[in-house]
Amino acid sequence: MSNKNIIWHAHHVTKEERSKMKDQKPVILWFTGLSGSGKSTIANAVETKLNEIGKHTYLLDGDNIRMGLNKGLTFSDEDRTENIRRIGEVSKLFVDAGLIVLTAFISPFQKERDSVRTLVEEGEFIEIFIDTPLEECENRDPKGLYRKARKGEIPNFTGISSPYEAPLNPEIHIKNDKISIEEVTQRIIDYLEKEGYLNA
Ligand code: ADX
Repeated sequence: MSNKNIIWHAHHVTKEERSKMKDQKPVILWFTGLSGSGKSTIANAVETKLNEIGKHTYLLDGDNIRMGLNKGLTFSDEDRTENIRRIGEVSKLFVDAGLIVLTAFISPFQKERDSVRTLVEEGEFIEIFIDTPLEECENRDPKGLYRKARKGEIPNFTGISSPYEAPLNPEIHIKNDKISIEEVTQRIIDYLEKEGYLNA
């Protein structure tokens, strides 16, 4: 519920000044895809590369955030929505801080991804679809979760017993079954360079 006694305070140091100091344009790189699709691995590689070239970043990752900020949220549709809403708000703060934010969450619903997009300004949200076929994710099964889900031991498992809505219009679409991590990373860095994010 909104409270009319809470009034937004305009701060003296602006997003523009913070970005200028960092010589970059703040943005959210929103990675979405199935569990095991490679979101975290790719986001890590992109962040490493950005740091090498002196860019200021922060990476928010599904499993880690669910151990802290979002501890206690389940995988029901309602809690997934709340999970993404909170991540969106945190990402918005980091964008205001002038950072390049990378997020790696399944974020299965288009509506929630679109809501995060509307939280920030035009051009500050880049949806990156890590498109790995379910079969491939299941073969990789890095955490052994698909095996458990198939045995009925994990309720609401994305791709098995809970839906995943593929992005309708992602800025970047990575078909991640026949491409190296280096190539994927370079594609994303090239996009950021071309679109002018890597300079203030
Ligand atoms: S989201 O759907 O709410 O965006 P999020 O990215 O935070 O999901 O968490 C996904 C991670 O939680 C998966 O990579 C997996 O390790 C773990 N996990 C545990 N239970 C589930 C489940 N029912 N469905 C999907 N992932 C699950």
